[in-house]
Amino acid sequence: MTKSEPAKPVKIVETVLRDGHQSLAATRMRTSDMIPMLEQLDNIGYHALECWGGATFDSCLRFLGEDPWERLRTIKKYCPKTPLQMLLRGQNVLGYNHYSDDVVYEFVHRAVDNGMGILRIFDALNDVRNLESSIRATKKAGGHVQGAIVYTISPYHTVEMFTKVAKDLVDMGADSICLKDMAGLLAPYTAYEIIKSFKANFSVPVDVHTHYTSGMGSMSYLKAIEAGADIVDCALSPFALGTSQPATEALVAALEGQPRDTGIDKEKLFPIADHFRGVKKSLAADFKLDTAIDIDTKVLTFQIPGGMLSNMLNQLKQQGHADKYQALLEEMPRVRADAGYPPLVTPTSQIVGATAAFNVICGRYKVVSKEIRDLARGAYGRTPAPIGEAMKKAIANMPVITHRPADDIPPQMESLTKALAEKGYPNASKEDVLSYALFPEVALKFFNGKRAA
Ligand code: CO
Repeated sequence: MTKSEPAKPVKIVETVLRDGHQSLAATRMRTSDMIPMLEQLDNIGYHALECWGGATFDSCLRFLGEDPWERLRTIKKYCPKTPLQMLLRGQNVLGYNHYSDDVVYEFVHRAVDNGMGILRIFDALNDVRNLESSIRATKKAGGHVQGAIVYTISPYHTVEMFTKVAKDLVDMGADSICLKDMAGLLAPYTAYEIIKSFKANFSVPVDVHTHYTSGMGSMSYLKAIEAGADIVDCALSPFALGTSQPATEALVAALEGQPRDTGIDKEKLFPIADHFRGVKKSLAADFKLDTAIDIDTKVLTFQIPGGMLSNMLNQLKQQGHADKYQALLEEMPRVRADAGYPPLVTPTSQIVGATAAFNVICGRYKVVSKEIRDLARGAYGRTPAPIGEAMKKAIANMPVITHRPADDIPPQMESLTKALAEKGYPNASKEDVLSYALFPEVALKFFNGKRAA
């Protein structure tokens, strides 16, 4: 870089308040664990603080007895300067199935009104039709749309394909693009190629999100940065590495004095990291969590997220089929291929995993769940590749869906508001109705507890 070139600092999204503890501490960080450091975090100069969405909403209501909306308002109160960021599953919002457009619209508006700035929106299948209504709603509400492309490996997932999805999202109005590698599969030179292609094809900022699962995370960030990535997601060291993101302090130090110096003073990060080191210890003790999660290079062979491998092994053990573990590992990629190579992320990871387990225990496609049928017939959206013959037989007499799945869902807000009134909450806020829409039983239990307290 010559002196006349403008500095182009790499920007950092800090994930300690969301993905960091979702990946390493079962999403159990409490708002009270965050509050002491929020003002300091706001003063670091981060591009954004990822602090909401993903599994945090469910976890607040289900495990922590907290109102997720209240958490959002609290964080914004202490962090007026730094944009807050959330992870939204497109038409799934934060739940596991598709919701009506009016639920998506209302959720996005309430999120922005309560302090959310950047909405990272993705679809498990990279079917951009499933992002249409959340992108439109975010634009209308005045939020920043970050369109996310889910990264995975298959014969169909090429640099050209990722670039096409990204360009579609830019055309739909995305203000920035995220390459989202939830399983830690993104290799450094692949990251370089994809980001080069993104930068050559559109001009909105590009953010890279990876997990350290396979141990390649920081190498991939460095190559992505060399290719021109504008933003990377990192977690402060106590909630970094393992199945979480690369460490913030290390990235800041690595770029110091270089052309893409982040401009962040790493000395200011140390006391905040010290606080969260204590938080991690208390979460491990209070919730009996194993927070020492190592990298697992097997993910590179099986392309299955690390957390899922241990879940599957546990489930097989419980059913007395521990000996089927190796067979299951080999069956997963076959089922994924039959199902049109969906990326393995919620909810497709659970669906493919369960089907592979049925196949090795009961015989191939002897037991076929409603979910895998729905996936195969397009009820979740378009699969990246055609459905294989073995699975086509399983859906032989079922209607195939070629339109946007949410077109079949009538408006839900009014009926949800009525249902909640009948449960004893006639004056529920829009926020409460949305909590109820996403997690009906859990939300009701939470409301009942709150009212009793
Ligand atoms: Co993540």
